Amino acid sequence: MSIDYTEKIPNNVDLAGDRKLQRALESWQPNFLNWWKTMGPAVPTQDVYLRTAVDVGREGWAQFGHVAMEEYRWGVFLAERGDDRRIAFGEQKGEPVWQQVPGEYRADLQRLIVIQGDTEPASVEQQRRLGETAPSLYDLRNLFQVNVEEGRHLWAMVYLLHAYFGRNGREEAEALLHRNSGDLDSPRILGAFNEETPDWLSFFMFTYFTDRDGKYQLGTLKESAFDPLSRTCEFMLKEEAHHMFVGTTGVDRVVARTAELMREHDTDDVGPHGGIPLDVIQRYINFHYSVSLDLFGSEQSTNAANYFTAGLKGRWQEERRRDDHVLTEDSAYVDLVKDGEITTNEVPALLALNHDLRNEYVKDCQSGMKRWNRVLENAGVDRTLTLPHVGFNRDVGLFADQYVSPSGQLMTKEQWEAKKDSWLPSEVDKTHVRSLMRPVYEPGKIAGWIAPPSNGINGQPFDYEYVHLA
Ligand SMILES: [Fe+2]
Ligand SMILES: [Fe+2]
Repeated sequence: MSIDYTEKIPNNVDLAGDRKLQRALESWQPNFLNWWKTMGPAVPTQDVYLRTAVDVGREGWAQFGHVAMEEYRWGVFLAERGDDRRIAFGEQKGEPVWQQVPGEYRADLQRLIVIQGDTEPASVEQQRRLGETAPSLYDLRNLFQVNVEEGRHLWAMVYLLHAYFGRNGREEAEALLHRNSGDLDSPRILGAFNEETPDWLSFFMFTYFTDRDGKYQLGTLKESAFDPLSRTCEFMLKEEAHHMFVGTTGVDRVVARTAELMREHDTDDVGPHGGIPLDVIQRYINFHYSVSLDLFGSEQSTNAANYFTAGLKGRWQEERRRDDHVLTEDSAYVDLVKDGEITTNEVPALLALNHDLRNEYVKDCQSGMKRWNRVLENAGVDRTLTLPHVGFNRDVGLFADQYVSPSGQLMTKEQWEAKKDSWLPSEVDKTHVRSLMRPVYEPGKIAGWIAPPSNGINGQPFDYEYVHLA
């Protein structure tokens, strides 16, 4: 089905065929726009070179062009699927997927959708003021692209709430606009989404580590037996890939510039030369990685087991797993702290699903380290960046009340606190990074702390006018 852009809400779910739902979403729309105006990007623009989803098909789903951001067409798109999709896991494995929400899973499914939905506008709020210090128009455009798509992801979840969860769902959709990142009275649901994103190094780390958590959460919901949720998440994953690209290549470019300055001035201390020292980059990695690990929940979880057994939430790449997809007979190893040592413990596989997902995520994060270390190696810098131990700086799960060093050593609170500033961004680090954040809005120009990208967007050159400021 191709998308009719003359409709108020572009969609491929035949909204026009359900007047009641259409009206409900059309009445939510002004509230969304109002939220976007007050909580969305703070830098005023005339227009931005953005991609807009126009289809879900294999051959091209997005269209690029300059658009005024408040006129961006946020729509509702579900990936296409064959008619006979079957449940891939859990106790109803092999049965047809659900087109409606089974009464017994209503509360759980709604909760999963609300938690996912809450993260989408949260990141827009966290990144609201970043445009004021963009290192180039190219980066400014990428920030706005990520922002409008997180806005669309909110639409995706709100559509499900309105279409399938009745009055309760509509109330939750309203609440998604009322909670705000970092708000003392009504914060966002998950911790990492109440942290501020005060500078562009944080933004790149966030899009690398925290958007990547999103990829894994969406990957589990994509397996869901509730077909509309599955199809929604599948399409969101398409957009999500660009967000992680922004993070991966953003850190690439910071590391490349740092290495360049290190060589040029023959010093590790590139701060006085307008760069971000590798130690600081490492501390930002340590921080963003550890708060993102918290998003996976406790290593052992009966909730996760119940969601799996019921068919609500699968594993990463469920269909590629070579087991029975029911897991009642299987076991798995999870971390355990015992007698002052970090060891592992065998538990029923069903209880270890959060741990399983986190492991997939950790492997994926390793690929970034490899990549950034290759950048260093190619520049002739004999240093490496590493992921800290999974127990480092954790607030959720098994390690929440432990003090673990980045290399995985258990220690006392006092020992840990004494080293904290060499492991996590210190006030001095943050002040330095912030001091480098000065806007560069001239086409083709770039700030001194970051290298230019190797390619532009959609075949455009780096010096293209990606954004026209107001
Ligand atoms: Fe998203
Ligand atoms: Fe994202």
